[in-house]
Amino acid sequence: MESSDIMKKLFLTIASAILMCSANMLSAQSLEISHLAGSNTIVHISADRQAEYLMLPIEETARETSVKVICNNDLVRHLNIRLAINKVDYYVPMILDEWKGREIKLLTHSSMDRSTVRDAENELCWSKMYLAESFDSSNKEKFRPEYHHTPAYGWMNDPNGMFWKDGEWHLYYQYGPYGSMWNNLSWGHSVSRDLIHWEFRPDAIKPDALGYIFSGSCVVDEKNTAGFGAGAVIAIYTSAGEVQAQSLAYSLDGGNTFIKYEGNPILTSGIVDFRDPNMFWNDEIGKWNLILACGQEMRIYTSDNLIEWKEESRFGLGYGCHDGVWECPDLFKLPVEGSDEEKWVLFCNINPGGPAGGSATQYFIGDFDGYRFKVDDTARYMDGNALWQDYGKDHYAAVSFSGAPDGRHTMIAWMSNWDYANNVPTRQFRSANTIARDPFIYKVEGKYYLGSRPAPEYAGAGLDKVLKVNGSCKVTLSNAKGEEFVIAYDQRGKTLSCDRSRSGLTDFSERFNEIATAPVHRKLTSLRIFVDKCSVEVFGNDGEVCLTSLVFPSSPLTSFSVTRY
Ligand code: FRU
Repeated sequence: MESSDIMKKLFLTIASAILMCSANMLSAQSLEISHLAGSNTIVHISADRQAEYLMLPIEETARETSVKVICNNDLVRHLNIRLAINKVDYYVPMILDEWKGREIKLLTHSSMDRSTVRDAENELCWSKMYLAESFDSSNKEKFRPEYHHTPAYGWMNDPNGMFWKDGEWHLYYQYGPYGSMWNNLSWGHSVSRDLIHWEFRPDAIKPDALGYIFSGSCVVDEKNTAGFGAGAVIAIYTSAGEVQAQSLAYSLDGGNTFIKYEGNPILTSGIVDFRDPNMFWNDEIGKWNLILACGQEMRIYTSDNLIEWKEESRFGLGYGCHDGVWECPDLFKLPVEGSDEEKWVLFCNINPGGPAGGSATQYFIGDFDGYRFKVDDTARYMDGNALWQDYGKDHYAAVSFSGAPDGRHTMIAWMSNWDYANNVPTRQFRSANTIARDPFIYKVEGKYYLGSRPAPEYAGAGLDKVLKVNGSCKVTLSNAKGEEFVIAYDQRGKTLSCDRSRSGLTDFSERFNEIATAPVHRKLTSLRIFVDKCSVEVFGNDGEVCLTSLVFPSSPLTSFSVTRY
């Protein structure tokens, strides 16, 4: 074929494909596909369309296609989408609302070389894409939890920017709306009044020219220190593009929509892994603090206005586990139960390097004067020794809500592990968060430990099972098919472990079967267990020992049996 021919646009209406699809589908006149030279295709969406959504067909094993959304010659969004080549696994919607009444074009570039126009035509996505007025996001997943937070559809990892205000728990999260694998990170947004029922809100912060929107935190700036208005919700997050840098956005409507600060990025460095800013007001010094993961250390900053930050100190080299990347820090003060003492806890999520393999949350207990964090009892953290908030395999990126009521520091973690997060056997959504937990410090034989107690909102909601423990025992959760999840308490050996190797679907990853074992510092007298469609969360002594595990049984694990040994 002549190259001029190849260059010639092939305009192809997709009316027939559209007629074959659902009732919500709109007529096709406003969608045209033109295949260009090389590996490029343009999808034209005309200004007179009536559609809310462009429905994108996804094939999870397909390579990624780069999709540039162009409006009046400007690049208004850049996404990476696994557009279907050979089969359609599911659809995701592209919301067209923000370009209403304007012509837009998707300029797509496939990473695989296409030598002829014919090849491009044979790719399934072009005939299966369609415009629609509505998108059915009702649940289609048997593993969708009943009371754990999940995105309605698409990919989710870390909880971000959580804050409490006026009776509402705001949960943002690393959200990839264009498929159920990690990509195109924005901040999704959900709100709850009881930490059980979650309402979905439109995405709060979308990727831009500085990059994807990685993890970060929010505070309510009651005193207008930043100058965006008293009560503005301020978000600081990592812009992850060619480099990682910290950016600021503010919300004047209680956290629903954010305006990005023009002076972004506000914090830069020469380090590759430089991310996950977590900020809080520190009354003791009358300043804002921010803690940031930088390579194998946490950096601590101060600020008067949330925009200009001064580095004060670094923490981490030589302490705790360094077998992976340090990510998602948090830092706050907690009372030591049963005493008048208070201690600071520095949280460091690390991947890999966790006690059961892969991702996990380590913590350090010590003192903080607003400028420098000092661990207590340094010997406990030397030579790679680490303490973990949850010894299960599915507790990661744990951070706290800002401004939780009654001085609480309620936390939520992402209930998955980078060892297999992209491959767990769900499609419509991937993944869920843990239940909310209130951390506390308890002291045994002169040593401080961190515990995590299920938030009081769950008390009386009938979600948990509480068992009295008196000596070593095995608790087996099972279903009629004989699939089982085994919790074993070894009083002599002072351990609590969870074995999910016969709990149903496990073969999607070799790393799913490992047994998770936690040290028990004080004799167990109770086990509190939360079972949902795809998870088991175990709390020894109401949170002194925690193990969180995903499970994918063919039917729910509703039978309980206890054996003593
Ligand atoms: C942790 C993490 C963060 C980062 C985000 C990207 O799971 O790697 O460090 O901000 O996920 O999605």
